[in-house]
Amino acid sequence: MAPIFPATVLRTGTVVLRPFSSADVADTQAAAADPLTQEWLPLPCPYTLDHAVDWCTIASHRLRTEGKGIHFALADAETDRLLGTVGLRRTNWRSLTSELGYWTAPWARRRGHAAEATRAVSHWALQEHGFERLELKAAVDNVASRKTALRAGFREEGIMRNAGIVHGGRVDLALFSLTPADL
Ligand SMILES: CC(C)(COP(=O)(O)OP(=O)(O)OC[C@H]1O[C@@H](n2cnc3c(N)ncnc32)[C@H](O)[C@@H]1OP(=O)(O)O)[C@@H](O)C(=O)NCCC(=O)NCCS
Repeated sequence: MAPIFPATVLRTGTVVLRPFSSADVADTQAAAADPLTQEWLPLPCPYTLDHAVDWCTIASHRLRTEGKGIHFALADAETDRLLGTVGLRRTNWRSLTSELGYWTAPWARRRGHAAEATRAVSHWALQEHGFERLELKAAVDNVASRKTALRAGFREEGIMRNAGIVHGGRVDLALFSLTPADL
């Protein structure tokens, strides 16, 4: 049987990273339907409450139990309100590589949460699970995401031409990586 990430809760100074639950449905729907989220992520459009129910109670958990990665809900450490998500996907347990992705909710942006959570999840994967390389890809015009990657300690490697698909069409992607040598 393929290895899987254990169900995990990570805490940093201001946020907690934990599994999604049904309590996150309304906030997930609002954040995933937000215009900036829709601009840069190929999520269903319109993003309905049914999509959010499926994501919070089934789909985000299935990724982990099938060994393909792990999706963390990023929540306020004091109130537990949903602030965003950071996930590992396309996990390859043979090469010990994975791809990291994120969004934050409109009510949580520009407070350092995405970078802090990305740092926590990536260090956990490299240090606790022996991963050798994490990749992060952002559309070249997605300034906030590119800055988040750098702020979290990732290094830019170059441009993957015509490699991404967003609702607006095909885009070039900036490729970032983090390896144990960077820590
Ligand atoms: C990208 C995203 C997750 C950033 O979340 P965030 O919580 O606001 O990010 P942080 O507060 O941790 O900021 C990280 C860096 O990005 C910068 N930043 C954040 N939003 C920005 C914006 N709109 N314009 C310019 N820079 C921005 C911050 O200033 C910081 O840079 P610094 O290190 O130079 O100070 C958020 O904008 C988002 O959800 N976007 C829509 C979905 C998306 O693009 N996901 C990624 C797809 S690859």
